[in-house]
Amino acid sequence: MSKKYSIAVIPGDGTGPEVVNEGIKVLEAVAKKFEFTIDFTNYDLGGERYKATGEIFPDTAAEGLTTADAIYLGAIGHPDVKPGILEKGLLLKLRFDFDQYINLRPVKLYEGVETPLKNKSPDDIDFVVVRENTEGLYAGAGGCLKRGTPDEVAIQSSINTRKGVERCIRFAFEYCRSRNKAKKLTLCGKTNVLTYAFDLWERTFYEVGEEYPDIQTDYAHVDAICMWMVKNPEWFDVIVTDNMFGDIITDLAAMIQGGMGIAAGGNINPEGVSMFEPIGGSAPKYTGKQIINPIAAISAAQIMLATIGENKASKAVEKAVIKVLRDDLDDIAAGKMGYTTSEVGDLVAEYIIAN
Ligand code: IPM
Ligand code: MN
Repeated sequence: MSKKYSIAVIPGDGTGPEVVNEGIKVLEAVAKKFEFTIDFTNYDLGGERYKATGEIFPDTAAEGLTTADAIYLGAIGHPDVKPGILEKGLLLKLRFDFDQYINLRPVKLYEGVETPLKNKSPDDIDFVVVRENTEGLYAGAGGCLKRGTPDEVAIQSSINTRKGVERCIRFAFEYCRSRNKAKKLTLCGKTNVLTYAFDLWERTFYEVGEEYPDIQTDYAHVDAICMWMVKNPEWFDVIVTDNMFGDIITDLAAMIQGGMGIAAGGNINPEGVSMFEPIGGSAPKYTGKQIINPIAAISAAQIMLATIGENKASKAVEKAVIKVLRDDLDDIAAGKMGYTTSEVGDLVAEYIIAN
């Protein structure tokens, strides 16, 4: 009997639904080719739902997601909803509730995609950032006193637990080993200033590292890593870091791999329900215009396939993405694909079926 997966889809806001459609198109093509089935269940969550009903993440939706094999998310963010409400109430809530403690961000420059870095080619830009995804400054620890007065105090603390740090670092070592490239893991921190948090990170990193003699360990401060990522991206294989630094360096990384139309990521709980998303946001002003590049959403689906164990299917999607980026699309950097969003999905799906 062929395998059957159930995928919960949250198309979300703005251009989320149109890029997710292309990801689903590609998933359907690849499932047919490799003889497994995927049931998609749609969850109407996001800014429109919140505006209409006041609901952000109702219990009924939470129950449905619990039984899914994975969650596929378009984008969250609505121009009429105050920043923070949907991010905290939906995106971060999903990450926390499902204990998706890894944010996995492959950074790969594909042929035919322009990078703003001079003299760098696909050989130079191929690394993965493993970002801790449930702790740090994102944990929501803190508070304020006397808000709005001259005596106002605001505190936002970074929470780092031995358990949380260790499981993230361990995942990064395992990932680096299975990736089997330079076998080098770089810890990105700030040990010279954040002497409590990154002391814990650093000690844990070298302790766990002893179990991985085949992996070379390296360390860089977060500010320096921003510099090296631009100057010598070829130095990196896998980078592991905390939640906030990971958030910042992965936007920089997205730009050197060709921008938000390309960048995808996974929010992973290796023992639970993981969630996959293009990282570009909802781009509300382009909604319905069919001009957004769906490759990021398609690559998010590709990471999903690898995570659920459909490795051949995942490789086939990547091969098709590589082909379409190299041979078909025009100048992505200038925002000109030469095709509509839906046509790009067709190109990828057709290539998968034909090869
Ligand atoms: C990301 C995003 C989110 C984050 C926002 C939307 C809350 O920037 O996935 O990187 O900060 O984690
Ligand atoms: Mn971010």
